[in-house]
Amino acid sequence: MPDLPIKSIWRILKGMPNVGSHAQNLDIFYRPQIAGYDALRKRLLHGRKTLVDWLEPSEGARVVEIGAGTGAMIEFWGNRINRFSKFYLVDLCPAMLEMARSRSRHIPQIEVVECDATQFQLIEPVDIVYFSYSLTMIPDWEKALNQAMTLLKPGGKLGIVDFYISEKKAASNHIQHGAFTRWFWSHWFSHDQVHLSADHLPKLHILTQPLKITESWGPLPWLPLIHAPFYIYMGQKSDAV
Ligand SMILES: C[S@@+](CC[C@H](N)C(=O)[O-])C[C@H]1O[C@@H](n2cnc3c(N)ncnc32)[C@H](O)[C@@H]1O
Repeated sequence: MPDLPIKSIWRILKGMPNVGSHAQNLDIFYRPQIAGYDALRKRLLHGRKTLVDWLEPSEGARVVEIGAGTGAMIEFWGNRINRFSKFYLVDLCPAMLEMARSRSRHIPQIEVVECDATQFQLIEPVDIVYFSYSLTMIPDWEKALNQAMTLLKPGGKLGIVDFYISEKKAASNHIQHGAFTRWFWSHWFSHDQVHLSADHLPKLHILTQPLKITESWGPLPWLPLIHAPFYIYMGQKSDAV
């Protein structure tokens, strides 16, 4: 297969190192795979276009993506980006940021920001904050979510798409994963410092008023019979805040 992204696959198999700061580890992990990143992740990171379709930004919206990587979500937004008055792409990994800057250089409303998700601040609040497959890679994900809430204006929308495992006893309106599923997927992804959690969805319900949720399964590249669990969540910040 001539189009196999060998460098990406090799780096994923070696796993994410733990030799320096979080930013350094991310750079060691992503830099060798950057050329093939988008093509491979198109086959792995499911539900990203659906999240974008759900968020429905109004004219002049101010939008933030936390853990924006190469800026791949720009393609899913398409012409809708022209509605945004400002679009911040926030990430901590220099290799990813280089690609995001190059991809967005002709889109004046985009600002690419090098910052840890737990530290990113703005003076003026925004209409939408979303995380696409980044929450599971952020060590202090709870702090990152709390920080995201401070960015949002009352009534603003928080969107997440990511891998997850269910709680041991999931609420009746949520999918229940068996013990093997929960064990298998958390171990499979932890090799690359992607930490699947049963705590993300409950925390999102506490922070926001849920508007839309879907829980599903998506195939892995070259392993079409193996499906990993992911969810898409959209919630709204209370007007009262
Ligand atoms: C799997 S990639 C997803 C990229 C992009 N959102 C997408 O959907 O293609 C996860 C991203 O989260 C970023 N990330 C991990 N920890 C972070 C942190 N603490 N602060 C900001 N970004 C972080 C990584 O550098 C990486 O670009």
